[in-house]
Amino acid sequence: MHAVLSDPIAMRYWSTPPHTDIEQTRQWVQAMVDADPAVCDDFIVELDGEVIGKAGCWRLPEIGFILRSDHWRRGFAFEALRAAIAHIFAHHAIEAITADADPRNNGSLGVLRKLGFTETHRAPRTWLVGGEWCDSVYLRLARSAADRF
Ligand SMILES: CC(C)(COP(=O)(O)OP(=O)(O)OC[C@H]1O[C@@H](n2cnc3c(N)ncnc32)[C@H](O)[C@@H]1OP(=O)(O)O)[C@@H](O)C(=O)NCCC(=O)NCCS
Repeated sequence: MHAVLSDPIAMRYWSTPPHTDIEQTRQWVQAMVDADPAVCDDFIVELDGEVIGKAGCWRLPEIGFILRSDHWRRGFAFEALRAAIAHIFAHHAIEAITADADPRNNGSLGVLRKLGFTETHRAPRTWLVGGEWCDSVYLRLARSAADRF
């Protein structure tokens, strides 16, 4: 995961700057392992036995995802998220999964829309990351919409 979370391209619109120390990633992974499964349903994404990212809900019902940038545009995020979403709706009594993306984050917004998420609203200056204020687009996928795939 350190190769993913230290990738400056993949981390451009993440909620923290890229990891610079493997200890940061160790703590990130440990928090995922230790998380209460009632509020967290998150997955590491592997390709041929190699970790290439993560997809799932660190805190239900909000989805989050990231892939190392040398694996982008090959359908892997869509494949991983479709499986994660089906699993999350099957195991948690939630009516919708939500997402919060930077309006400049075309990859994130693209995969969310392809999965059927629709925009609910926007807000300015929601995140201060590495000294830069970022805005948010909020999206939602209802259980009934997810049932279609
Ligand atoms: C978002 C992300 C996971 C997408 O991963 P990916 O494996 O490249 O996505 P996919 O190949 O599955 O693409 C699925 C669809 O998303 C859309 N899409 C993906 N990247 C896109 C881009 N850069 N611009 C516009 N649309 C894009 C396309 O509609 C694509 O379908 P298509 O290939 O049939 O046209 C990846 O760009 C990433 O890791 N970004 C950085 C992390 C991040 O910002 N996470 C989100 C925080 S909310």
